[in-house]
Amino acid sequence: MAEDTFHFRSSRGRADRNPYVDRIKDFGSHALRAEESEPLRGHWREAIGKSADAPLLLEIGPGNGFFFAELARRHPEAAVVAVEIRFKRVWLTAKKALEAGAHNFRVIHHHSRHLPDLFEDGELDAVFIHHPDPWPKERHHKHRLLQPSFANQLARLLRTNGEVWLKSDFEPYGPLAREVFSGSDFSEIEYTADLHGRPSLEAPEDVVARFRMADVATNYEVKSRKKGARIMLAGYRRQPVS
Ligand SMILES: C[S@@+](CC[C@H](N)C(=O)[O-])C[C@H]1O[C@@H](n2cnc3c(N)ncnc32)[C@H](O)[C@@H]1O
Repeated sequence: MAEDTFHFRSSRGRADRNPYVDRIKDFGSHALRAEESEPLRGHWREAIGKSADAPLLLEIGPGNGFFFAELARRHPEAAVVAVEIRFKRVWLTAKKALEAGAHNFRVIHHHSRHLPDLFEDGELDAVFIHHPDPWPKERHHKHRLLQPSFANQLARLLRTNGEVWLKSDFEPYGPLAREVFSGSDFSEIEYTADLHGRPSLEAPEDVVARFRMADVATNYEVKSRKKGARIMLAGYRRQPVS
């Protein structure tokens, strides 16, 4: 099927081959399949038991959920959502967050390409993307998350002053993030190519970031640092619509 007509459906998962297709039901409404999550578009705060003015935070690709659990735990005032394409990682993330004592979250089995099926324009307060897949071969660059069209999509889904936070150990992603988010919809609030090696961050002094969580290491960050890799951190703010 051509990529632009492909529609992500959790029912494509084969429970006979992947036990996590069924096991995500272990966590009730905390772990949702794609088709269960789309009706909640525009209603996430209410579904998670938060008031209409609560922040709505999204992590894309939480992996095994180390960071997500801490995000939900540190922000009990927020509704916190993750979108993850792998069933096992949906299960692991929901498990981690519940073990951390958090209940203010949902983990969704979905593909980031379909974020507009999940969120209304201006619904999100912050988006976190940590160690997106590198796709190093040139013929695979089209699969990279960091693309101008993706930044435009995030600009639509974020409210004014909403934040995007990125981390990566893949060196080309630092310059690529800056290029992709350098359009007029975003301003850079922070950038460093070596989060743990160099304290000097390129941020204007008057910038106050509401959802900076750079001190919380992700699973990939821990593994990469053991191998000596440098971790890039970048933060962007959604500019007011002119
Ligand atoms: C390299 S891992 C990083 C995991 C975690 N963020 C970390 O830093 O430890 C990338 C994660 O993103 C998920 N992923 C990749 N592409 C995705 C997409 N388009 N939408 C949602 N999740 C995606 C993968 O299944 C995987 O869990």
